[in-house]
Amino acid sequence: MKSVMRVWLKMFILGFLQAASCENIYASEKSVVTLPCDRKPQAQVAWSYKKDASSAYTNIVKTVGRNTLFGTTPMKSKSRILPSTALQIQDVETDFAGFYQCEISGIKKEYKLLVVSVVPEHPGPYLQSSSLKLDCLVSGSSDERPVWLQPDSEEVWSSVSTLEIKELTMRHSGTWRCMVGSFKLEQKVEVLGIQADPSSGTLSVKKGGSVFFPCELSSSLTEPQYQSAGANWSRITQKSPNKPEILNPNKLKNRLLLSTSKGNHSISLSKVSSADAGKYTCLVQINGAMMRKSFQLNVLSVESSGVNGVCCLHGNASGFRMEWSNAEGQARDLKMQQGESKTTLTLPMAQMNSTAWKCNLYLGRKLQTSIDYTPGTADDRSSSNVGWVATLLKMELWVLISICVGGVILIALVGVVIGLLVRRRHLKRLASKKKVAKQPLTPRQYCQCQRKRTINGSRRMNSYQEEDRDY
Ligand SMILES: *[C@@H]1O[C@H](CO)[C@@H](O)[C@H](O)[C@H]1NC(C)=O
Ligand SMILES: *[C@@H]1O[C@H](CO)[C@@H](O)[C@H](O)[C@H]1NC(C)=O
Ligand SMILES: *[C@@H]1O[C@H](CO)[C@@H](O)[C@H](O)[C@H]1NC(C)=O
Ligand SMILES: *[C@@H]1O[C@H](CO)[C@@H](O)[C@H](O)[C@H]1NC(C)=O
Repeated sequence: MKSVMRVWLKMFILGFLQAASCENIYASEKSVVTLPCDRKPQAQVAWSYKKDASSAYTNIVKTVGRNTLFGTTPMKSKSRILPSTALQIQDVETDFAGFYQCEISGIKKEYKLLVVSVVPEHPGPYLQSSSLKLDCLVSGSSDERPVWLQPDSEEVWSSVSTLEIKELTMRHSGTWRCMVGSFKLEQKVEVLGIQADPSSGTLSVKKGGSVFFPCELSSSLTEPQYQSAGANWSRITQKSPNKPEILNPNKLKNRLLLSTSKGNHSISLSKVSSADAGKYTCLVQINGAMMRKSFQLNVLSVESSGVNGVCCLHGNASGFRMEWSNAEGQARDLKMQQGESKTTLTLPMAQMNSTAWKCNLYLGRKLQTSIDYTPGTADDRSSSNVGWVATLLKMELWVLISICVGGVILIALVGVVIGLLVRRRHLKRLASKKKVAKQPLTPRQYCQCQRKRTINGSRRMNSYQEEDRDY
């Protein structure tokens, strides 16, 4: 009975010692791992390996005097004993996972090697809007479950060993880490797509201004291995709230400017009107992946309703604040009103004790844009129509002046020509009349005429003309 107890105790203590001395070592695939023996260097050092707890140790490498003897383990060609008696394994593979034991003078030290690797569903690079699946595998039996940490943060993104993102955005780019115990294996993910702009997806512009919508591809995407099926821009405005309208430079009458360089699909829209407010989306198709980037465009304008000044924000006013301030920069305490397609802030005439006003638009504390307003000169639709009429009138005046001047010149010319013709005909008639009247009265002239005829041959006309000139 006593001996049985002793055996049990011995087994328990041995087991406890073994468990206590068995340390978990994590290593990533293809890395170099060094297992220290923690014993004074001696002539005889033996490192051995077993795949799992139930199997028996076999020799990896041992030194006996000056000889080094290798066993038949899978890691034998990549292992060596360092002068410190530590075991160094190069280029770790997943099937090197298991138990390692160092033995010097009958004293043993045991390790459990766990090999961590990341297996992607498909190799990178990853395109924006496509999916990502990374499996974090731990070879060797570990009680610890791997989790995923997001880039630049210690926050756990996924508490399971598979990192799965259905639709990648540029924000998913970075160094992800698979964490097991205190070990972290880094995995770089580069998402290629439409370059993210530090400015938010909301753009605010005042009426009549210009707005730039950036849509540039990651420079790698302009390389020949990526097949682009083109890009287009569409927008959803109040006019077509359900059906996106494809932006067409011909329809937007020179207001839309497209970039021409490769991989740059940015656009700018000028002479913005309140009807332009809405959601703009750049859509690019590369290697079958559809990438998109959207912006909300808000348009600020000042319209007058009778005698009040009304500041209007067309678009999505969520998060925005409008403010009326006078020339001294003092703001009026007024309330914004949410309309169907616009949000308004009315400055009642009773409060207009200044001649210069400003309508300011803020997003948070940041001033986005502002419009100057002098009461009575609202920059509203009717006033801009008046402007158009004025230009039209100006143009017509020019046309009228041209037509008048041209007409006068034409009439004058016609008059001169007619006058000349009439005069000539009159003179001719006069000449022939005179001739008829004079012929019988002046025989000398008849003789002259005859004489001339002999000189000029048959050209009787000439003689008449000369006669005309003589008179
Ligand atoms: C893309 O085009 C816009 C407008 O044409 C330009 O301002 C911008 O610099 C271009 N970007 C690059 C990277 O060339
Ligand atoms: C816009 O581009 C996408 C992707 O290239 C395409 O599928 C879609 O048909 C285009 N739309 C129009 C109206 O051209
Ligand atoms: C307005 O923008 C906010 C956030 O910016 C969004 O939650 C909301 O759905 C938008 N409203 C409309 C009508 O698009
Ligand atoms: C205009 O009226 C406001 C109060 O409505 C007052 O605080 C402000 O001093 C006045 N400014 C001028 C220039 O009279």
